[in-house]
Amino acid sequence: MSTWLQPIRLAGRVGYLIVSCMLVALVFVQVFHAGFAVLVDAGNWTAHRNLGNLFSLPVFAMGILSLIGWMPVRFFLMSLLLFGLYVMQYIFLYAMPQSGAPALTALHPVNALVIGFTGYTAVRGAWHLVAEAWPAEAKARRGALGLAAAACAVLAVSVGLRTGTWAFAGDNGGSGVSLAASTESSVPAPYLAMQNPFGDGAGPGPAAAAAGEQIAQQRCIVCHAPEYKGKQLGAVRSADLTASAHNRSAQFLMWAISEGGQGGMPAWKNGLTEEQRWQLVTFIKSLKQ
Ligand code: HEC
Repeated sequence: MSTWLQPIRLAGRVGYLIVSCMLVALVFVQVFHAGFAVLVDAGNWTAHRNLGNLFSLPVFAMGILSLIGWMPVRFFLMSLLLFGLYVMQYIFLYAMPQSGAPALTALHPVNALVIGFTGYTAVRGAWHLVAEAWPAEAKARRGALGLAAAACAVLAVSVGLRTGTWAFAGDNGGSGVSLAASTESSVPAPYLAMQNPFGDGAGPGPAAAAAGEQIAQQRCIVCHAPEYKGKQLGAVRSADLTASAHNRSAQFLMWAISEGGQGGMPAWKNGLTEEQRWQLVTFIKSLKQ
């Protein structure tokens, strides 16, 4: 191996070690977010989802670093496997509820364990590979590397814990108002003045309802359950949207979806366009009890 390549390869390997440490740390944070959402505050599902969407970054980075580090092929395969497991997380969460076997949705947290274990295997392998390059006498170097990896893991934890407040999904932070306790007279004037451009069933209604259903399957069933009848989220219960279909005006629904509510109903006014929110309203209105 030509000598100028050596430091580059070592850097790739050290990078792989550090990024895989961060990945494992993030798995722990992700489990914490889920636990917090189930046991303390359902609003934390937003944090869990935001952080989940970020997981592709360390996984891709590991794949590239394994090539830069000219690491044995198993390290590349591990990042490929992690990517596959990551995609499975979405499939378990979003496709299984509509499948013939909705119970398989529960494999989502089980798969998370597999991801954590695979990440740990990558950390161990990379550690040995880097340590091999440094003879046992170089204790200080190893110590420094261990500390750097640990520090990066801690950094990942704190970044991971903050993702709930990041606005890149645009739909954090419900209004804090109890929607369940609200009535039509609670709807603010600007929303009262709005009209559903898709009507309530006539005209382009069915197409809009179908578009709304697609959005709802991606964004809403996590909390409102696949049948939209609502479910218990820690201390609060999400609304039964099949009841809202009859009990609430289109303006009320538009307000609730846009501004969010207590106990974790997110505000979607930045995350979804006005047209998409009306599509959701039209879809909810089409739900039969
Ligand atoms: C993180 C969990 C969560 C997500 C995701 C979520 N909701 Fe909610 N939703 C709730 C909770 C909890 C309530 C009850 C809030 C309250 O009573 O203040 C609620 C209430 C509502 C209400 C008020 C119903 C009524 O009659 O009072 C509507 C409408 C609604 N959600 C629609 C949606 C739509 C549409 C989506 C997807 C774009 C969505 N929700 C996504 C948790 C969620």
